[in-house]
This record gives sequence, structure tokens and C-alpha cells, in this order.
Amino acid sequence: MSMLQHEAGAERLAEFRAAVLEHYRVSGRDLPWRRTRDPYAILVSEVMLQQTQVARVAAKYEEFLRAFPSVEALAGAPLADVLRAWSGLGYNRRAKALHEAAKGIAERHGGRVPSTYEELRALPGVGHATAAQVLAFAFGVAVPYLETNIRAALIHWFFPDEHGVPDRALMPLVEATLDREDPRTWYYALMDYGAALKRSTPNPSRRSAHHGKQAPFAGSAREARGAALRALAEVEAASVEEVASRSGIARERIARALEALEREGLAVRVDGRWRLPR
Ligand code: ADE
Repeated sequence: MSMLQHEAGAERLAEFRAAVLEHYRVSGRDLPWRRTRDPYAILVSEVMLQQTQVARVAAKYEEFLRAFPSVEALAGAPLADVLRAWSGLGYNRRAKALHEAAKGIAERHGGRVPSTYEELRALPGVGHATAAQVLAFAFGVAVPYLETNIRAALIHWFFPDEHGVPDRALMPLVEATLDREDPRTWYYALMDYGAALKRSTPNPSRRSAHHGKQAPFAGSAREARGAALRALAEVEAASVEEVASRSGIARERIARALEALEREGLAVRVDGRWRLPR
């Protein structure tokens, strides 16, 4: 059978749905962002979950919402404070994008997170999957999407022997299995099922054509940028040398990291000293 035209029979689809829902009944995860329908809280959680593991997000999510409990609170905060609260999640450009999204929601949507796909996609940092997740989890609107756990679940069931499975082969299966009445519960169950499979070896999502393994962290520019931001978060302003010594990273590497952060709008240089943007 061609993988591009996978003809899963109705029976196989029903079996899959039953297995996923039974797994959820027995071992569904109670995660903090699943206890709310507040679209703002859900948007925050999904941006955090884009590139960061559940356990790490769970450790930060509630603290972040205590610091910025509403769109207005986040929109009105200095970026420096947002970056401090983001610290530990990595990929800090997301914090800046979320901050800008909050400003856009405050200015253009009266502080209410929009409930249409197009308006969500127009926000910085909101791609297809994040828009679909906000629609499903906050508004009960069913839009098909893929993320790593969903890929793992579908590949495991429907492509047991294939490698390099493209998303276009999986999307029809997302469509065919999606619960239009209750997309929220279905997607939670589907992600939990896939996450459990990924902990078993071999991880089925490695057979996705879109499997993105993060590059090694130690010695990377990402590591140096994260360390530089953490050092800046501790002080009002600092010289390159101070940032280097606080972070324990060599001066040249830290200098490059600071310049990259400056280009991304995550750090500013004033009179030869570095600080977080206000
Ligand atoms: N629950 C809600 N959104 C989630 C996500 N993106 N990943 C894992 N679990 C979730």
C-alpha cells in the first residue's frame, strides 16, 4: 500500500480510537494547563510547550501566570521581566513573541484572545499547531494538526514498518479520527498516547520525515545565549567581562552570544554595558 494513500479501514480507525481513549482513561496526564479554559492561559502554555518538554513547562507555567495573570498584565510588563519569568524554558525568542502577541491582543482584540484561526495565526509566535491547540483547548473548535506525540501515535499504528513518513500521509488520519464534538479530550488523549509510546523504545516519531532532534546543547550558541540571558537577568547592567564571569563562559563566546541577543531584541547595549530590554 502506498504510504501517500493510506486507506485505513473504518474498523482499524475505530480500534485506534478505542486504544487511545482506553489509555487516557487509565493513564491520562493531569497537567496544570488542562485544568483551565482561559484562552490566555492556554496560549501561554502552548507557546511554552512548542519546544520545551512537559515536565519543564509544568515547573514554570503557574509561576509565569502568577506574574502575568492576564493579557493586559503581560502586555504592560517590561520585556526584561517577561524574560526573567521565562528563564529556564529556553528558546527565549518565544518570550518576546508572546509578549508582542499580548500587546497585539490588548490593542486589536480588546484584551480577549481571538477565537478564529486567521486571527490567531496573525499573532507573533503562533503557527498552525499552536492556533489549532488554542482553538481546541479554549474554544472547543476542531482543527487538525500534528505535533511530535501525535506523529508518534499515528506512525506506530498506521505505518508500523515505514521510515520517513511525511506529514501529508498523517493529516488524513488526524482528520478521520478527530472528535469534532470534543476535540479537547481527543487531542489530550492522543498526545498522551503518543508521549507514552515515545518513552517506549524505539520512539516511533523517529520514523517521521519531520522528526526534529534538537542539536546538542553543550558547547552550542544556544547554550551561550541562555547563559548570557540568565546573567543579565541577575543584574541591572553588566560589562561583557561581568557577563562572562557570571555565566562561566569564555569572553569571546559570550560576546558573540550578546550580539546575537541584541539582533533578536533580547538584549541591549548602552554605553558599553549590557542589559535586558525594558
Ligand atoms: N496538553 C495540552 N497541550 C499539550 C501539549 N502541547 N503537549 C502535551 N500535552 C498537552
